[in-house]
Amino acid sequence: MKSSLFNFKLLFCINHEDRIFPLSLKVLQEDPENKNECIEGFLICPDCKSKYPIISGIAIIVKDIIAYASQRLSVFGKWYSNSKSEEMKNYLKDLSTELKKNSSVDNRYEDEGRYFQSYKWLHNENFESDKFLHLMRWKIKPSDVYRKLTSGIRYEPEGIALDLGCALGLSTIELSNKFSFVFGVDSSFSFMVEAKKKTSDLGISNVEYLVCDILTLPFKNQKFNLIFGLNIIEFLPVEKLMPIISNLLKPHSFFVTTTPYDYNREVVYNPELNDQTLRSIIEKSGFEITIKTKKESFIPWILKINERTYLFYFLDLIEARRVSKHKY
Ligand SMILES: C[S@@+](CC[C@H](N)C(=O)[O-])C[C@H]1O[C@@H](n2cnc3c(N)ncnc32)[C@H](O)[C@@H]1O
Repeated sequence: MKSSLFNFKLLFCINHEDRIFPLSLKVLQEDPENKNECIEGFLICPDCKSKYPIISGIAIIVKDIIAYASQRLSVFGKWYSNSKSEEMKNYLKDLSTELKKNSSVDNRYEDEGRYFQSYKWLHNENFESDKFLHLMRWKIKPSDVYRKLTSGIRYEPEGIALDLGCALGLSTIELSNKFSFVFGVDSSFSFMVEAKKKTSDLGISNVEYLVCDILTLPFKNQKFNLIFGLNIIEFLPVEKLMPIISNLLKPHSFFVTTTPYDYNREVVYNPELNDQTLRSIIEKSGFEITIKTKKESFIPWILKINERTYLFYFLDLIEARRVSKHKY
């Protein structure tokens, strides 16, 4: 986590409805090669004194850290064994006494989960040698979809963007070329660690990854010039999600989303959603859908589950502008 971020008031305590208290940074360990990187520490609320840990450089800003850690015990084990400072070790030791041993869920997006390697495959630079892709008449590079989805986004060198459910940061990295700063958020700690590593290997420094629940974000309203949310809609109650997105966006700014309408993967909140019902909910939430995405689209997206299994989706793209009475 970049210490320099705290020169600006960007992150707020999620225990206060109006996000009125900016979090302050307590550094326990910094990266010896980059003094601007806090690799271990806490974000602290000046009012309620809530403490959000920063582990391996990733801030974990969740309401219930006990529930979060209880649901991913093997991740918690790594937090403890990799922690460097005495204060973090003690914090995690105290936390361990409160963990609920039976609440481990299917964490398909953590590093031992079913989908972790599937997404890592998208970081692959050598798709030509892939058995399935090699067979296809139409040559497809699966990671290109993220570049294509951002290619039409306007360059806003002073703007800030937010990438919801950003996984390994493929779309976040593309957005970093268009905005002064981008936040990528995801509930998977393992994804955030990988995304941070990839981003830093590419020499990109205007991105920060946070572990957060999309429905409880640590940002003030009207902060963002663009919000991306690729392939997340079916995991979230969309009627609750849209007002959150609308509030976070500056007037007239865009929300861009894709979805495969896949109801087999996980907890499904919106089994009735299709291209028309989703567009209707987005419009009713105060957005105007661009002419070019008014009709459903079929954009190819491939994930490799294992050596012999692939998921091929057609994504539907929606770009929607937040309607506002404010002048441009
Ligand atoms: C299908 S993946 C899409 C990843 C990425 N946007 C893409 O298109 O490649 C869904 C992502 O959303 C994250 N996610 C699901 N529910 C979430 C929530 N409530 N808060 C934050 N992230 C969530 C998952 O961890 C996962 O990384």
